[in-house]
Amino acid sequence: MAATSTRLYCFTGGSVGPWRVDAVLPVIGMALVKPQRLAVSPASTTPPAPHSWQLSGITSNDRYVERTEKLALLNKQEGLGRPASTHAALIPIRKSAAWWALTQDERRDIFERQSAHIGIGMKYLPKIARRLHHCRDLGHDQPFDFLTWFEYAPEDSKAFDDLLAALRTSPEWAYVDWEVDIRLTFDFG
Ligand code: HEM
Repeated sequence: MAATSTRLYCFTGGSVGPWRVDAVLPVIGMALVKPQRLAVSPASTTPPAPHSWQLSGITSNDRYVERTEKLALLNKQEGLGRPASTHAALIPIRKSAAWWALTQDERRDIFERQSAHIGIGMKYLPKIARRLHHCRDLGHDQPFDFLTWFEYAPEDSKAFDDLLAALRTSPEWAYVDWEVDIRLTFDFG
């Protein structure tokens, strides 16, 4: 059943795919091998050979967002696949055991009251479009906890970097123990 779920996405770094890999930057922890191209496919597919790595994640229900925040997000955000969004970032993230040992209310407190993750993120909508994929519930063989995906126009690259800088200095990021920043350009050629 899981293999046919449309909530499951695979990110395959290798020699095929419409996204050219411009950079693979280790932010915290180990780097990943830099492939030439990235393919994003819904559901679990046989990885095209040769490939460097394949990461999977599933979209899911919200964990932290409250009703007023959800309405504000829905009001401001735009979807993926906009023609002007020729730049993208895949940022796989793992959080520490200390994070996962917290209770839901403790995590929410760090996520929004202390770190303003949504408050900061809102300022960058609709320039940055995003999709969050969870990996933990797929089992133990996934190296990361989250695969975060962002799309934006080239002129919004600086805004995206500012957003990352703000989040990475927040208390929430003290719990991030592995993060890789993969930058991409849409290029069918
Ligand atoms: C574009 C602006 C952004 C907005 C509006 C935004 C908004 C959100 C929201 C609403 C959630 C919570 C979803 C829930 O309730 O479960 C969330 C979770 C998350 N976001 Fe963002 N975000 C943004 C940018 C980013 C960036 C740039 C990163 C990574 C570098 C990131 C990484 C994450 C992660 C890892 C989670 C999951 C946190 C957890 O469950 O522990 N977000 N984001």
